[in-house]
Amino acid sequence: MPNATVLVVDDEALIRWSLAERLKSDGYTVLEADTGRAALEKLSDGVDLVLLDYRLPDTDGVSVLRKMKEFDADILVILLTAYASVETAVEAMKLGAYHFANKPFNLDEVAATVERALETTRLRREVRQFRANAARPYSLQRIVGESPVITALRQLVAKVAVSPSSTVLLTGESGTGKDLVANVVHYTSDRASRPFMNITCSALPEQLLESELFGHERGAFTDARMQKKGLLETAEGGTVFLDEIGEMTPGLQAKLLRFLEEKSFKRVGGATDIRVDVRVVAATNRNLEEEVGKSQFRSDLYYRLNVLPIAMPSLRSHPEDIPLLVEYFIDGFNTEFRKKVIGATPAAYAVLQQYGWPGNVRELRNVIERAMLLSEHQRLDAGDFATMPRAVPAGDSFELPPNGVALEQLERSLVIQALRRCGGNQTRAGALLGLNRDQIRYRIEKFGLTATP
Ligand SMILES: Nc1ncnc2c1ncn2[C@@H]1O[C@H](COP(=O)(O)OP(=O)(O)O)[C@@H](O)[C@H]1O
Ligand SMILES: [Mg+2]
Repeated sequence: MPNATVLVVDDEALIRWSLAERLKSDGYTVLEADTGRAALEKLSDGVDLVLLDYRLPDTDGVSVLRKMKEFDADILVILLTAYASVETAVEAMKLGAYHFANKPFNLDEVAATVERALETTRLRREVRQFRANAARPYSLQRIVGESPVITALRQLVAKVAVSPSSTVLLTGESGTGKDLVANVVHYTSDRASRPFMNITCSALPEQLLESELFGHERGAFTDARMQKKGLLETAEGGTVFLDEIGEMTPGLQAKLLRFLEEKSFKRVGGATDIRVDVRVVAATNRNLEEEVGKSQFRSDLYYRLNVLPIAMPSLRSHPEDIPLLVEYFIDGFNTEFRKKVIGATPAAYAVLQQYGWPGNVRELRNVIERAMLLSEHQRLDAGDFATMPRAVPAGDSFELPPNGVALEQLERSLVIQALRRCGGNQTRAGALLGLNRDQIRYRIEKFGLTATP
């Protein structure tokens, strides 16, 4: 395996030197350590294989082996020993040692064992990659839609996925597909065979969120009875999805920023810096730029996250995709509910297309799910969507009163009513009026209305 890093652990300088020289000439990167403790510290530099002396000044090889496997179960360990008792050998193998080499060893033999061991890892990784590809739960095709905005979105996601380490910031209203895109970014990138970990920043109190993300040392706080790895460590090589990043507290924002800048962090209560290779994908339905303006969100973190921004389009901005999405969901629910619905009637599409979809694709999916559960028809019909909140009567059905209206006043009153009905939620109020967020905001300002009248 080219570029593999081998850690040589032995207290005898001459042995370290001879192994290191040989392995370097075979093309490996070689790190050295003379104690168990130093060896464990080196692990965070990224180690593929360890040549580990059984006799160390501060501890024995088996306990170092155990700790190494706890740190990363994929690390290969070859134990070097002059005094292998059968018991030690059995215990070491149980703990996952790859091989034993008896001292004094033959350099060629050790080098061949190293090569074979690394080849096993390479194959294991390839199989993993292959499986991930075969399963590919999240291909680009999972992002459904043929409108220009969705086509552009798919192209952007494809580009983002091949730049596999830059931070991604997904912004957009709830239900626009941020979770979906985060998954697609991960599963179409080189990281696909490594973990995708996800956490909702608003779901946990600060201290818990911190220890979920960064892990903690034993005794770091009252309940910390054991050392625990955080998501950033478990996701090594993969992706961490931080949902609702806008809700993160200032203290954690600072820690996250430090991690993004240095690629390393300390566990809660810990002193050592832990380096990991993870990609961070963050999402929010807030306008972070505005939050920065109000000093609710750190500007430096915002710029650090915003390396690859992806703005998710609201469903209102691409209603032409509704039929395709409907077909897609019908297909899925046919399988799930063992139904044989073959589509929707033009009247049904008319109802679906005039609605404002404040809950975006998620709401559309829910509406289709409900209709499929209740409908008796082969094709979903307008009647199957009767319970759906109706859109504002469009066009002709609204009759101008004989004496005319004061249009501005009417508009103002409608905006106020819509805001009241939606408890001040501008997006939903806008949807009731067929307006996007900017359009409703513009009117709120124009009429001097506060956000929650
Ligand atoms: N363009 C799309 N194509 C197919 N399914 C979509 C699309 N956008 C969203 N969805 C689906 O809609 C639902 C809500 O999407 P989600 O990613 O959870 O939204 P968000 O995280 O932005 O709130 C999910 O079931 C998701 O798979
Ligand atoms: Mg989401």
